[in-house]
Amino acid sequence: MANSNLTSAKKAKNDEFYTQYQDIEKEINAYLEYNPDVFKGKTLLLPCDDPEWSNFTKFFAQNFERLRLKKLISTSYAPESKNFKNGYQPTIFEQSDPQFDKSKTITNGKIFTLTHDITGDGKVDFDDIQWHYLEGNGDFKSNEIKRLRDEADIIVTNPPFSLFREFLSWIIEAGKQFLVIGNMNAITYKEVFPLIKNDKLWLGNGFHAGNAYFSTPLAKEYAEGVYNPDTGLVKFRNVCWFTNIDHGRRHQPLPLMTAGDNLKYSKHKEIKGRDAYKKYDNYDSIEVPFTDSIPSDYDGVMGVPISFLDKYSPDQFEIIGATESEGKGFSEGLWNEKSKVSQPLVDQERVYKRIFIRHRKK
Ligand SMILES: C[S@@+](CC[C@H](N)C(=O)[O-])C[C@H]1O[C@@H](n2cnc3c(N)ncnc32)[C@H](O)[C@@H]1O
Repeated sequence: MANSNLTSAKKAKNDEFYTQYQDIEKEINAYLEYNPDVFKGKTLLLPCDDPEWSNFTKFFAQNFERLRLKKLISTSYAPESKNFKNGYQPTIFEQSDPQFDKSKTITNGKIFTLTHDITGDGKVDFDDIQWHYLEGNGDFKSNEIKRLRDEADIIVTNPPFSLFREFLSWIIEAGKQFLVIGNMNAITYKEVFPLIKNDKLWLGNGFHAGNAYFSTPLAKEYAEGVYNPDTGLVKFRNVCWFTNIDHGRRHQPLPLMTAGDNLKYSKHKEIKGRDAYKKYDNYDSIEVPFTDSIPSDYDGVMGVPISFLDKYSPDQFEIIGATESEGKGFSEGLWNEKSKVSQPLVDQERVYKRIFIRHRKK
């Protein structure tokens, strides 16, 4: 049910979902625990973040000193471009500012910058943010925002769901460090998987059990049980952080049983009581339908669900490829082309997307 939200959000181009402060805090703390200097002296760009709505700007401004940032820049997308044309009301904060410009408030994006103590209270925080209107609407693809991207060391945000592929390519082409929210299905996109395989992108610390709750001003569109009117939050499943910044969970090996013990004691009926793990009809690999059923003592290639990546440690496993249905040549020769079917087959039954992995040789 919640997944169909993402589909309808894409169709309707509803990109107004705001990340909760505590989710941002928990994620950032995971990188700081691993490397306390990770943000030290860095310029951080939040390219889809209006502080009037977004907790990203609030979090980084309030923690500017603790993280020892050099500069925080956040930019917002124009209300007109967000389809807020009708009934848009600039906030009191904007209207009471001497810079307020009626001719720009709807059509232009804004830029918010934080570098030093302006108020003179001896600390650098949210109150020291300075802002002005952008020349354009704040589209991340515009030259104006590209220049800010090129100035930044790290880019962090929850980008528009409908533009996730373009947004990620936009960061990758600039070779920046990043931390962005997306749907787990993006793992097998042809633009994303090669980066994962080559250890240039991985999953972040993550939301609890992959469930993320975002606030949205467009609540009416949701099915019952998905939107909670008491909290104002919409639930999405399979949401994760994509990053190229290291964190500790990524180096914790997954505890596993041997193949023999899995076949004897597994909690999954698909494994327990069998003589051996099944092999695919059309790929030279065994099928491991659950991440917790990966045998600790199997030397060959294993096909695992994409959710494995949430538990992936590059110290423990090597990623070989993915099924051909995700992209041509993705399976690194494991696919038997004669079968014609590129989706993985077990006993002639199609199974869902798979990633191929192998234990890393010690
Ligand atoms: C999923 S929301 C997240 C907002 C905020 N980052 C947060 O997490 O609270 C994505 C935001 O990107 C904005 N947006 C949509 N298209 C954009 C574009 N082409 N360039 C910049 N921002 C865009 C949307 O208006 C929306 O506010």
